Order: sequence, then C-alpha cells, then structure tokens
Amino acid sequence: MMRSLTVDLKDRSYPIHIGEGLYPQLPQLLTECGIQPDRPLMLVTDTQVGPLYMDEVKGHLESAGYRVGTITVPAGESSKSLSRLEAMVEECIRFGLDRAGVVLALGGGVVGDLAGFLAASYMRGISFVQLPTTLLAHDSSVGGKVGVNHPLGKNMIGAFHQPEMVVFDVSTLRSLPEREVVSGYAEVVKHALIWDASFARWLHTNASDLLHLDPEKVGHAIYQGCQVKAAIVSQDEKESGLRAILNYGHTLGHALESAAGYGTYTHGEAVAIGMAAASMLGEELGTAQEVSGFTRELLRQFRLPVSLSGQWDEELLLEHMKRDKKARQGGYAFVLPRSIGEVQLYRDIEEQAIVRVLNRLKEGTT
Ligand SMILES: NC(=O)c1ccc[n+]([C@@H]2O[C@H](COP(=O)([O-])OP(=O)(O)OC[C@H]3O[C@@H](n4cnc5c(N)ncnc54)[C@H](O)[C@@H]3O)[C@@H](O)[C@H]2O)c1
Ligand SMILES: [Zn+2]
Repeated sequence: MMRSLTVDLKDRSYPIHIGEGLYPQLPQLLTECGIQPDRPLMLVTDTQVGPLYMDEVKGHLESAGYRVGTITVPAGESSKSLSRLEAMVEECIRFGLDRAGVVLALGGGVVGDLAGFLAASYMRGISFVQLPTTLLAHDSSVGGKVGVNHPLGKNMIGAFHQPEMVVFDVSTLRSLPEREVVSGYAEVVKHALIWDASFARWLHTNASDLLHLDPEKVGHAIYQGCQVKAAIVSQDEKESGLRAILNYGHTLGHALESAAGYGTYTHGEAVAIGMAAASMLGEELGTAQEVSGFTRELLRQFRLPVSLSGQWDEELLLEHMKRDKKARQGGYAFVLPRSIGEVQLYRDIEEQAIVRVLNRLKEGTT
C-alpha cells in the first residue's frame, strides 16, 4: 500500500509517497511529476547505502530509458563539506549534467542535505528528488532545508531548495542499525508532541511494533510525521515564525551534541533529552502542567534517553544554549509545551529555572 500527501507550497508544492517496495514504481512516479527519460539523472548515495540499494534503483531507472550517473560519498556527517561538494560538482560536469538534470538523493539526512545543496547550487539550481532511507530522514526530506557544515558550525552554508518529490520506501529501514531506528523515532515523537495529541497517544500504544518496524505501522507513523512537518512548513516556508516550533527539544539537544562532541549522542538521543528537559521547564515556569510525565514515558517506550548520565559542565551547556539560533541578544529561548500536542516559543527564560531542570535531569530521580 502506498500513502501519499502533498506539501502545499503554491507553485513549489510537491508529493511525498510512502510505502513498501516503491522503487519499481520510480520511473512512473518521476514521469507523473514531469521528469521524463530525456532528462539526465545524477544518483547520489553513500558508502553504506549504495551497496544495498543503488543497483536496484539505477536498474529500474535505466530500464525505463533514463541516463543515470552516480556519486557515492563516504558515509557520515563529515561528507557534508564544501570540499566534498566541489568534487561532486566536478563529477556532474564530467557526466554532462545540464540545467534539465535532476539530482536524486538516496540515503539518510546527510545525503539528503548534501545532494540537496548540490541541486540548489549547481548551475544556479536544478531539480532534485529525495529517496530517504532512514527514519530521521522523514524529517529532513520535508521542508527544503539543504546545506553543508563549516568547521566552525553545523549547517552554516545552505539554502532553501524544495524537492520535486519524496519517495520513501520503508522496506529500506530494515537494514538500518538499531540505534539509528531508535534515534529516528525521536523526531517522530517530536512531531506528535508539538502538533497532534492523538498521534502521540497512538505512538504510545504502538511503540513496540514500531520499534520492530511493523511495515503498516511504520508507514502510518512516517505519514503522520510528514503531515505535521508539511503543515508547519507550508504555513512558514522560510522560518519566520511558526516553523521555530520544530525546534522543540533542540535548544538543549544541540547544546548536548556540541558539548559532548558530535558522535557521542546521536541527534535523536540528544533531542529526546532536550524534550524531556523542555517538558520539565514548562512545568517549572507554568506554561503547562502534567506533560513531563507522559513525555518521558513516551520517550522511554522508544528506548530513548530522558536523563543526563555522567559529568556535565553546566556552564558550557548554558553557553551553548545562549548561542542557539533562536536566541536573541544573549537571552535563552526555548520551545515549551502548552499541553500535549501544543507548544510555543518563549524568549528570555530565566537561567535559574534552566539550572534547576539540568539538576533534576542529572539526578535522574524525576
Ligand atoms: N534538512 C533538514 O531539515 C534536516 C533535519 C534534520 C536533520 N538533518 C540532517 O540530517 C543528518 C542526519 O541524518 P541521518 O540520521 O539520516 O544520518 P545519516 O544520513 O548519516 O545516516 C545514518 C547512518 O545510517 C546509514 N544508513 C542510512 N540508511 C541506511 C539503511 N537504510 N540501511 C543501512 N544503513 C543506512 C548511513 O550510511 C549512515 O552511516 C544531519 O546531518 C542533520 O543535520 C537535516
Ligand atoms: Zn532534529
């Protein structure tokens, strides 16, 4: 069964298709969104995903008459760099990719962000299609944020560039390492907690089947998660207001990732702790009552962490949180719950409240 939805962005609207075994239908789906076999395709993947799915995808496209070039980058965050991008541009030129060309991103968020930025910048912008292969990529493939890292900061060089289409073949998730599955659910849980209380309750009931990648339920979870992100992005494409709520759990999450050194926590693990913290902060400050119990319980169901283990330099964490992109003039900004399924961005949060929450998280007694 294939589920489809549309990200509504006027003339840049695009479809998302989610289901099992969708790759044989790729040529037809491409044709439906106006990409005929006379347009050259550049399929970008990484060294882990490529050996698993590249031949299959390329085979289906070539038998339908498409000319397909391929680029395989090393798996991992370090491929999101300007030097990697430059090498990719060279490969595109040598292949003869022209303005009518289309970049296809086959992989997780790293490949999506990198190949998306290649498409955004190559010849001042060509079309691209996302073929996500991680759970987290249900988040990163919707919304059009693409880019690479700078040694001084993550995602510092990038653009907004919407894809023509997203095709999420959920059968690829079966080869995903377990930690990546767990981590990917953090953003699914986030989408529920910020927007849709009944989806949050459904996740709570179905966590075990979801962790075992029951295809029907995973398809539903990804569909709902994409719905939430699509609804928010279509109201605020360039993040001037509403879209900031997608940063729920990310103020502390990003601080933990950089303070611990990238790679210690996965992104999802850090965001899970961040959401536990935000729900407790909401109670401390009175924006919402009785949300932290459910929030932490839901995260635990997905085997995500909800407390801080080990030694933490509080000053360092606070410093990172102050530098958060949402913060202005040195105050702390947090997205906090109003209730399950509703959140709001708050600025000028008092430091003492944050410190109290950090201590509660460390004790792990809450
Ligand atoms: N653009 C956005 O809006 C947005 C949002 C969230 C995150 N991101 C970005 O996404 C990136 C993280 O994405 P990610 O978690 O998908 O990481 P990733 O792309 O690095 O994938 C994680 C690992 O799993 C491997 N892998 C991917 N799919 C697989 C599969 N089906 N089977 C086996 N192995 C597989 C990859 O090779 C990699 O080693 C970060 O760079 C982050 O900045 C972007
Ligand atoms: Zn995130």
